[in-house]
Amino acid sequence: GKGPRVFIDEIGRYVGQEVEVWGWVYNSRSSGRLVFVLVRDGTGILQSVVSQRDVPESVWAAATSLTQESSVKVAGLVRADARAPGGYELAVTGLEVVQVAREYPITPKEHGVDFLMDHRHLWLRSRRQHAILRIRSTLVGAVRDFFDSRGFVLVDAPILTPASVEGTTALFSTDYFGTPAYLSQSGQLYMEAAAMAFGRVYCFGPTFRAERSKTRRHLMEFWMVEPEVAYAELDDIVRLAEELVTWVVERVLERHRPELALLERDTAPLERVKPPFARITYDQAIEILRREGAPVEWGADFGGDEETVLARAFDRPVFVTHYPAHIKAFYMKPDPARPEVVLGVDLLAPEGYGEIIGGGQRIDDLDLLLRRMEEQRLPREAYEWYVDLRRYGSVPHAGFGMGIERVLAWICGLAHVREAIPFPRMLYRLYP
Ligand code: 4AD
Ligand code: MG
Repeated sequence: GKGPRVFIDEIGRYVGQEVEVWGWVYNSRSSGRLVFVLVRDGTGILQSVVSQRDVPESVWAAATSLTQESSVKVAGLVRADARAPGGYELAVTGLEVVQVAREYPITPKEHGVDFLMDHRHLWLRSRRQHAILRIRSTLVGAVRDFFDSRGFVLVDAPILTPASVEGTTALFSTDYFGTPAYLSQSGQLYMEAAAMAFGRVYCFGPTFRAERSKTRRHLMEFWMVEPEVAYAELDDIVRLAEELVTWVVERVLERHRPELALLERDTAPLERVKPPFARITYDQAIEILRREGAPVEWGADFGGDEETVLARAFDRPVFVTHYPAHIKAFYMKPDPARPEVVLGVDLLAPEGYGEIIGGGQRIDDLDLLLRRMEEQRLPREAYEWYVDLRRYGSVPHAGFGMGIERVLAWICGLAHVREAIPFPRMLYRLYP
């Protein structure tokens, strides 16, 4: 008889029973009177064996004409088989072809990255992309669980905004009924307002940067989680960042060993991601760079190369604090003991992945904020609401932003962030 429709990741519960699996043909090969069909259904891949002896002629005919990615409903008996991928196999009794796929462009041979990116909508079906995006899904859930379980309130920030946050990077501009509006670079300013309302808040959404950067770490559209905490100082959010990163890495290690193995990710460096992370100042970073033969003038910002050299000096992620004020955004609070540096922090990932978190303590003094805005020639009207936060019960506060794709690229050991998001937006790519 006909069995229930089941998913491949739970097939082990049905050994000895008749079931149906609905999916797509990952691959098929025939050997004499047998056809081996690898069926994928989004939860896994199952080897299904069609034996000419055991099935009606019509089923045999269908099985021998299957093309890659044809959609199929297979019925059969579940058997445990140590030789089969995943440990189970389906002895096919019935086969319904939903659609015979035309010649599938992504064949099992090697393809170039541009070709694969042009076919991103299909490439998502591959084992590798599957592993990465499943880990992404877990990562996003882990981030939410972390904040939700610590009393943070999720407050969504707008995407269309009247002004910039990160003065240092370019904005995508749109026409908002006759006035310009910009796609948000960061929800931070709105989170500062929300923190004064709720105490501990976070937003989590897409952010946009029109940076003409063509590196393995830059996307034009990426997802960022941004916590903001009232009555918090630099040290408080450094600890929060350390706990967050430890938590998400642990969660991925707990749930995704098979995916990490498929990606050939050496998990040893991930196992070391435990508090305390190293913590250095910008000045100490300059010394390390000199010592390592990558000298940088005091006052210069670090690029990917410097971050890689710095991170190499430590066996786990490293915090860099107290950057020169002039390379950081207008809202960063100057160190009262040394106003030429700010109470900002970046977290650098190991193994060349560079900055994964940026944040710090914000200016809470009204006059100082106004002075900094004037120095950076920010249009006062657009920020008046933000200035208000320093008029009505201003308190020390701090927060940070963590880019999901950079964290995912690091955890998965990817060569480029383009694989860390389903449909990447890059300098020369807006398709598909
Ligand atoms: O350091 P950033 O620019 O910081 C901010 O936007 C702050 N307003 C956040 C805050 O304090 N609430 O960006 C934060 C993080 C970076 O550390 C990086 O992980 C990621 O966002 N990021 C990018 N990821 C991919 N592509 C890009 N072009 C990115 N730019 C930043
Ligand atoms: Mg930054």
